[in-house]
Amino acid sequence: MARFFKFLLYLLGALALLLVLGATWVHFTSRAKLDRTFAVTPRPVALPSDPVALARGRHLAQTRGCNECHGQDFGGNKVIEDGAMGRVHGPNLTRGKGSRVASWTDTDWVRAIRHGVAPDGRALFLMPAEEYQFLSDDDLGALIAYLKSVPAVDRARVPIDLGPVARVLVALEKIKLPASVIDHPNVKPAAVTPGITAEYGRYVAATCLGCHGPNLSGGKIEVGPPNWPEAANLTPHASGNLAKWSEADFLQAMRAGKRPDGTELNPVMPRVFGQMDDTELKAIWAYLRTVPAVPKGAR
Ligand code: HEC
Ligand code: HEC
Repeated sequence: MARFFKFLLYLLGALALLLVLGATWVHFTSRAKLDRTFAVTPRPVALPSDPVALARGRHLAQTRGCNECHGQDFGGNKVIEDGAMGRVHGPNLTRGKGSRVASWTDTDWVRAIRHGVAPDGRALFLMPAEEYQFLSDDDLGALIAYLKSVPAVDRARVPIDLGPVARVLVALEKIKLPASVIDHPNVKPAAVTPGITAEYGRYVAATCLGCHGPNLSGGKIEVGPPNWPEAANLTPHASGNLAKWSEADFLQAMRAGKRPDGTELNPVMPRVFGQMDDTELKAIWAYLRTVPAVPKGAR
């Protein structure tokens, strides 16, 4: 009996040691990844000042998700807040109190949106720059010009505080810092002409890849909390619905959040994309017709 208890004690001791070692590894590995800095010298982008370009900037801010994470008034918004993942808020992007951007140069804006890097070289967490790096110079210029024109909102910055699950995901590189996946010296903004073409659709659909995957086959959304549903397969494979849909079905799903059979899309599928204009949505549809059929989640 005594020997058995001694063995049990050793076993518990070994387990406790493993746990401590594991937690220490996660702590330091994730910290090192989060604190990585990037020396990025972005190419300047011309900012327009005409009303048409500013309206375009506003449309981009609404339909590319900026409001979702930075708030309707751009004063900052909650993105994640739970015990496992921790607390992540999109910061204040206006010139009001609690914002950092008031003193920024135009190049600082380009560095943040196209490269996911703060002026001091720190990699921005969860800020989907890997998608925005492809924004054309015209679109990025319009977006920045618009953001610089929005009314000031006073709202304090909520510091990012990652929970244990998020730290493990960062340590294991299941969550990657956008700045670490961008090829900074070779960022190549798209040169596109808006129109109902597959080429323009591919450009607009860059904003769908974070959830639907690089080949749009859907499946588990790695950046999301564990309770998020899987993203749908948007390729024309039998494991998805889109091979059977018409353009009208697709537009209805995007605009009204309803499938042809009347079922509602889960709210994790952002409704803001429904505000994309006809050219953008029809172009995405044209592009989706051209992507290879891939089984769901085979990224
Ligand atoms: C999925 C959520 C999300 C979306 C969508 C998003 N952002 Fe962010 N953004 C963040 C978070 C979180 C930070 C803060 C990251 C940090 O401090 O590490 C951030 C930081 C920034 C910063 C740096 C500001 C500062 O004070 O450090 C800028 C500029 C910015 N975002 C602009 C944009 C624009 C423009 C868009 C839309 C084209 C956008 N963001 C879309 C989450 C998001
Ligand atoms: C924040 C994550 C996220 C983003 C970004 C996103 N989606 Fe989705 N989408 C989802 C999820 C999750 C579902 C599954 C919803 C459900 O199961 O009800 C979905 C479902 C869909 C569906 C329904 C397909 C079906 O078979 O029911 C379509 C169409 C769609 N998305 C298109 C898009 C397009 C186009 C974009 C880019 C403009 C996009 N999504 C961006 C998460 C996202």
